[in-house]
This record gives sequence, structure tokens and C-alpha cells, in this order.
Amino acid sequence: MLAEPVALVEVSSDGGEPRPTGIAEFDRALSGGLVPGSVTLVGGEPGVGKSTLLLQLAAAVALGGAKVLICSAEESAGQIRRRADRLDAAVDGVSLLATTSLAEAVAAAERLAPELLVIDSVQTLGDPDLGAAGSVAVVREVAARLVSLAKQRQIATVLVGHVTKEGELAGPRVLEHLVDTVCSFEGDRHHALRMLAVNKHRFGPTGELGVFAMGEHGLVSVADPSAFMLADRRPGAAGCVVAPVLEGRRPLLVEIQALVAESALGTPRRTAQGLIPGRLALLVAVLERRAGCPLGRYDVFASAVGGVRVSEPASDLALALALASSALGRPVPAEVVACGEVGLGGEVRQVTQTPKRLAEAARRGFRRAIVPWSAPAELEGIELVRVRDLAEAVDTLR
Ligand code: TYD
Ligand code: MG
Repeated sequence: MLAEPVALVEVSSDGGEPRPTGIAEFDRALSGGLVPGSVTLVGGEPGVGKSTLLLQLAAAVALGGAKVLICSAEESAGQIRRRADRLDAAVDGVSLLATTSLAEAVAAAERLAPELLVIDSVQTLGDPDLGAAGSVAVVREVAARLVSLAKQRQIATVLVGHVTKEGELAGPRVLEHLVDTVCSFEGDRHHALRMLAVNKHRFGPTGELGVFAMGEHGLVSVADPSAFMLADRRPGAAGCVVAPVLEGRRPLLVEIQALVAESALGTPRRTAQGLIPGRLALLVAVLERRAGCPLGRYDVFASAVGGVRVSEPASDLALALALASSALGRPVPAEVVACGEVGLGGEVRQVTQTPKRLAEAARRGFRRAIVPWSAPAELEGIELVRVRDLAEAVDTLR
């Protein structure tokens, strides 16, 4: 029989309602939780904490009264149990299956009919009929079967996908079209901060962000990331400037630090941590040529504090001011933030969503903001210091 089209206005809009998982920042990132029958891919580098996140997710969903099945090809059931003990995640309602067989995983899910199925990881499941696990064709086929299982049985399914440092792999990239939601779990191993960014989402906006801290007992939701990021700040130190950046849709206050020191080397060092090295080099040159800050003979170190990666041009002005502040030995007052893009001519340019950024700064007690001349109208709670170019911005330090 041929399928008949239905009038749009007569189609029911039911379904697609997210169910809260009980992990606050996960639910925030996914605009409310997991939708029954949806497939979510969580990508990330090895060791970032994907298995930890999903074990905690499984436990939280089970505590909410739903059945959960975790199929792991990466760890034995014993290993998962030991980790669950550390995480307080050994709860009723979570079943484990350690297998590398797609057929076994599918059969178990059909038998158990869980509300949530976790597959850790999609690259390690295989099938004798398909060929070796991990190849692009097999990963795609495994995912396609899991997607049709999820739709048929209305099982919310979360797939783990490994990503290499370059973001490449037989895995996430080829799966993006198949699944409903694509998240990436990111963070620097040496820091506690972890971020769950949503890059594709069929049930809500993309760009939402969940923030966690990895500790001894797993991941903890961080409801106020700006407070978390600024916790160890030493207000009033030269070379330190707070920038209100946007991670997706979420405003975040990040401290940008710079240290300018006499160099003993013929070619002075330029080191950027959590910042784009090319951007640092550019700002050093612009400061030198357009704002009268000769940095050429100095080693320059710059970092975004706390394990975040800041790639937004909106952080240019804060970085440039941090450099100038360190070079001049003049601190930027503690209650000041800076946001703006810096052009090659030394001009300071407007950035997107300035009010949202400044509102976050005002909320955390900042009282003044150095902004581009063309920045939008005044904002309650924060005084705007408008600058046309970098030279004017640097003048605020003198
Ligand atoms: P894991 O979830 O195994 O990462 P992935 O599945 O992405 O490869 O997490 C591994 C790291 O997390 C490991 O280096 C140790 C750290 N960790 C903690 O710091 N605290 C904890 O409670 C747990 C379970 C892990
Ligand atoms: Mg893992």
C-alpha cells in the first residue's frame, strides 16, 4: 500500500517531549532531557569522562524509576561495578551487558525493553556479518541498526563515540546524519572543568551547554560556571583581565592572563594556553604597531584560566589589555571586564550579544566594562567605557 500524505494541521504534535534525566546540566544541554526513541551521540577524546557521565546518567534515570541497559564493549561488568561504587551509581534498575556483539546488544535490549540504552562505544560493537568493528562502514551500519531499534521500541539511546585529538574518526563524523542529537564532551585532563556542547539537536536549539566538574566521585553539575571559573582569581593582579565569552548560547566569565617578561632568547617566546596562538601573535603585533606597546623583545605567555578553550574574537580586547597591563605593570581594576574584537588597524569592533555577556558580568558583581565605541545602549548595573581603538583601551590603564 502506498503511504498517504497527511495535512500538516491534522498531524499530532505529541511525542518528542524530553524527559528529565535527573542530571541537571545534562538536561540543560539537551533542553529538558532525553526524548523517548531518540538517539544521542556523545563524542569526545578518550579519558575525558564519557563513560563516567553515562554511568551517572544511567543511575540517575534508574533512580527516577526507569529501566536502563548499559552495553559496554570497553569495560568488563566488574570494572563498571567498581566504578559505580565510587560514583554512588550502583542502583537498582541498571543492567549491564559486556559484549562486542551488536546482535547480543540488540537482543538484550529487545528482551529487557529499557527506557534508556547506553552503548559504550559504537566503534567497538561489531557483527560477524558486517566485518571488523571500528571501520567506517561497520560503525555506520551498527549505528543504523541501533537507530531503528530505538525508533521501533521507543528506547532513548545514547551512543558513545571516540574522537581523536584532531576531531576525526571513523565514528562521530559519519554518524552525525543518522542520529537525532550530537553532543561533544570536552575538557582538559589536567583540569576539572568538563563541557557538554550540543552541536545538532532535533528536539531543541543547538548551542546549549552543560557544565560539569570532574572530581573524586565523578561529575558534578556546575550551575554557575562563571563563579566556578573565577573562584581562585586574585583580583587586581597586573596582566589579568576577565572576558565575558559565549560558549554556544551560554555566557561565561573567563579570566585571561598574560605575562610579559624580558627574553634571553634571540627569538622571544610566544606561548598560548587555551587561546589561539595565531590570535596572540596578531594582538602582540597590533599592540606594538598601533598602541605603542613594544613587545617585540619580550617573551609573552598568555592563557585562559581554568581549562577552557577560548576561540572567540570577542576575547581579543581582554587578551590585548592583559598583555598591555603586564607590560606596563598596571593592573586592570578588579571590577572591570573587557569585550571586543580587535582589527589589524587597532580598531575595536563590536561582537555578538554584548548585552547577554555584560548581564552575566553584572550578575557576578562587575561594575565596569571596556567595550567597542559602537556597543549597544547602556545596561543597568554596569558602566560602559567605550573605546574606539586599542590605544584608547590601553590609555585606560595609564
Ligand atoms: P572515563 O569516563 O573512563 O573517560 P572516557 O570514557 O571518555 O574514556 O573517565 C576517565 C577519566 O576520568 C580518568 O582519567 C579518571 C577520571 N575520573 C575522575 O577523575 N573521577 C572519577 O570519579 C572517575 C570515575 C573518573
Ligand atoms: Mg570510556
